[in-house]
Amino acid sequence: MEIPQHIAIIMDGNGRWAKKRGLPRIAGHKVGVDALKEIVKVCGEIGIKYLTVYAFSTENWKRPQDEVSFLMNLFFDTLEREVNELDKNNVRLRFLGRLMDFNPKLQEKIENSVEKLSKNTGLNLNVMVNYGGRAEIVDAVNEIAESREQKTERGDKISEQDIQNHLYTRGIPDPDLLIRTASEMRISNFLLWQIAYAEIYVADVFWPDFRRAELMKAIESFCKRERRYGKTSEQLK
Ligand code: FPP
Repeated sequence: MEIPQHIAIIMDGNGRWAKKRGLPRIAGHKVGVDALKEIVKVCGEIGIKYLTVYAFSTENWKRPQDEVSFLMNLFFDTLEREVNELDKNNVRLRFLGRLMDFNPKLQEKIENSVEKLSKNTGLNLNVMVNYGGRAEIVDAVNEIAESREQKTERGDKISEQDIQNHLYTRGIPDPDLLIRTASEMRISNFLLWQIAYAEIYVADVFWPDFRRAELMKAIESFCKRERRYGKTSEQLK
């Protein structure tokens, strides 16, 4: 089978990576950014078209205040430091989620970075922040209801295509491969709609250790699978 067009990743285990080394949790997030940089670079090199990563969930606000602040600063600083390098690598960036809950300076930084990279034609990097899969579906349905009240859309029964067209990920093909690190077998409210037919791969390393070789293992595993989309193996022959 061909390599996946779209890889989604639940980057898990930063805290445990740090704890194992006697470091504060935030040290894990810092090295987590290095891992993400490497994965972005490799995905670009091998011709992956879309990479979608779960960077902050709607539930993550419940973490200790200083960890939440650290993550917000980390998003800001990483954008500041990396945007030129991403541009050089022809990466197109999107930040998707309920961005309006972030502080205005971070929102502005996100907006400017996304705009700067919007004409790029290489890897599409989607960073999901203040994101929840259920929240996304609720937002989509509310948008449909609103546009019907204003009669900009037709009033037939709501279809799968209608919902698809109003997700944050509209226009982006569904992930072929969903990777989660740190051995956890959970979806944690990530891309609930979009992963309907994704192949799932669980890596046993913590996110800061998920590098080129680990990504290649996940892709190799994907390539060996038979995707049937509900059909029998015989029908696929
Ligand atoms: C999960 O590990 C990790 C996060 C919630 C944060 C992920 C963020 C990054 C890797 C930084 C990304 C940066 C940019 C700019 C997109 P955890 O803290 O849940 O680990 P644990 O389960 O071991 O506690």
